[in-house]
Order: sequence, then structure tokens, then C-alpha cells
Amino acid sequence: MAADPRSATAVAHANIALVKYWGKRDAGLVLPWTGSLSMTLDAFSTRTTVHLDADEDRVRIDGVPVTGEQYRRVVAFLDLVRAMAGRSGKAGKARVDSWNTVPTGAGLASSASGFAALAVAAAAAHGLDVDPTALSRLARRGSGSASRSVFGGFALWHAGHDDASSYAEPVPSPGFAPAMVIAMVDTGHKSVSSREAMRRTVETSPLYRPWVDSAAEDLAGMLAAVTRGDLDAVGEIAERNALGMHATMLAARPAVRYLSPATVAVLDSVLELRRAGVSAYATMDAGPNVKILCYPEDAGRVAGAASAASAHCSTVVAGLGPSAHLVGRP
Ligand code: DP6
Repeated sequence: MAADPRSATAVAHANIALVKYWGKRDAGLVLPWTGSLSMTLDAFSTRTTVHLDADEDRVRIDGVPVTGEQYRRVVAFLDLVRAMAGRSGKAGKARVDSWNTVPTGAGLASSASGFAALAVAAAAAHGLDVDPTALSRLARRGSGSASRSVFGGFALWHAGHDDASSYAEPVPSPGFAPAMVIAMVDTGHKSVSSREAMRRTVETSPLYRPWVDSAAEDLAGMLAAVTRGDLDAVGEIAERNALGMHATMLAARPAVRYLSPATVAVLDSVLELRRAGVSAYATMDAGPNVKILCYPEDAGRVAGAASAASAHCSTVVAGLGPSAHLVGRP
């Protein structure tokens, strides 16, 4: 059995997909239909401590005990880590304490930073010797997008065809460090989870297959654009890929609509900025908030335009963030 350090703390940052993951072909293993590519942010992180000293798994997020489906999801993940460590039964039951600087469940990638931090902390607490690829595969089992938050900067998640081949890896982008302005128009809990929305989309949307087909071209184009540091190409592909993803959900039965009037107002402000010659491009996830890619020197102007577009819009300017990592023992 592995050595037993008993407790560990890890920090992971949110990532925003520039080419989206939307739809699983294997829900149990969390294998996606498409590959995706993201930018890890230096804003919005999760800090998680795992102590292996409990009789039962206990999970708290921001100090509040977690119950129901969310609890079962964390326990299923802890079971995976225990199986990797060769522990079963009561052995290795955990106390998990997680603190978010990102609103939970608001389409701001809390599950990505959350499960990436949990993967790193739980693996370390169990004394597992795992490389970043194995950590990415493990994080993926908790939440698909978490596979990418294991890495800093830009990360490409290979869709793969089985557990071993579905993992993320860093995409080198020498000298390319755009800003991402997060325009938060609503940080409340979303009405339909991304998990349920993507399941419904895959099963019922007539637009899903065409989006999957176009995603391969988007991914190849995005990889090349990030590698050569071409912000306009990155932005154009990111915006069309995200709008296409939302089109697939709008065509689901019943429809899933995350975009609100405030979202559309911010999208209009991005178009206005482009007409004025500013390189600014929008992407949206499973929620109404808008993330705007731009040059760092334009971030203030972009944030101002987004705030002016909608009465309740607040903004955060993010840059490239670090890999998930262990921090000093608690
Ligand atoms: C729209 O990773 O939250 O943010 O695997 O079911 O946990 P699960 O889904 P999740 O979905 C993220 C969807 C997205 C796009 C993306 O991050 O690629």
C-alpha cells in the first residue's frame, strides 16, 4: 500500500473553454464526444483540504456541509481514489473542506477548479505517486472540464476513446498571454445543471451532430491559433464555437436557454468594440455570464463597455493562471 501522509491541501484555478466540451459519449467514464481547449485563469480558484481521519466521508464547501447529489458525486470520486490506493471499506474515509473564490454552480467553472483541487489533494493524502496525465484523467472522472484545470495556461483535452486516452495536456503558447474579462450579469445558481443540459442536448437536439462535426475543425484551428499567438483567430473561433454550442441547447427538447437579456446586451457591446477596432471576442458557458477575450491593454475599456451594457454587470479581469498544485501541509 502507498505511504500515508493522511492530509493534503491543493489549489486549482477555473478554466474557460475556447473550444467547448459539450456532451458525453460515456457518462460513467466522462468521455466526451469532442476534444476541447481552454485557458486557465488566475482568478477564481478552489482550495481543498483532504484529511483521511474520518469514519464517514464528510464534505463541506465554503463551510457548509454538502448533501444530496453533490455529496454522492464527491463520495463516488473519493471511492475512485481509494480504489487507486488499494483501500476499501472504512479505510481512507475523508473529511473534505473546500473553499471557492468562484460562485458555485453559476457557469463560472466551479466544478473544474473544484474537482481538479480535489484530485490533487486526495491523491496526495493517499500517498499516490501520479503524474499530471494521470491526475488529469482522475479529475475528468469528477467533472469533465476539471481535466483541463490540472494545467495552467492553455490546455487541450483529447476526447480519446477510453479512460486511458482521454486526458488534457498543456499547449505551449510562447509570449501569448491574453486577458479574459469576466462579465458577471448573474451569479445565482443556474436552473439546469450543465450535466443535465448536455445530456438533454445530446439526446434530443437535432443540431448536436452538426456541432460535433464542426468542433473538429474548430479544435484544429484553435490549436494552431493559440500556438502562433493569434488573438483574432483564437477569438473568432471561440465565439463561433460557443454560439454554436448554445444553438444546440436552444434546439434541445425542451430547450435549455442560459442566455439572458443582459447576456445579449453584453454581446452587443462586444460587437460594438470590434466595430471600433478593438480585438474583443465573447464566449459563454452553462450560464448567462460572458467571458471576453482581449489584449491586456484593452481589458479596462472592455470591462467598462460590458459594465455599461447591463445595469447589474460586474467585471473581473483575469490573465493566464497556474497549474493545480499542492500547498503547505495544514
Ligand atoms: C459549458 O465539466 O461542468 O463549461 O463533466 O458533467 O461535470 P460535467 O460537465 P462540466 O461541463 C462544462 C461545460 C462547459 C464547457 C467547457 O468547460 O468545456
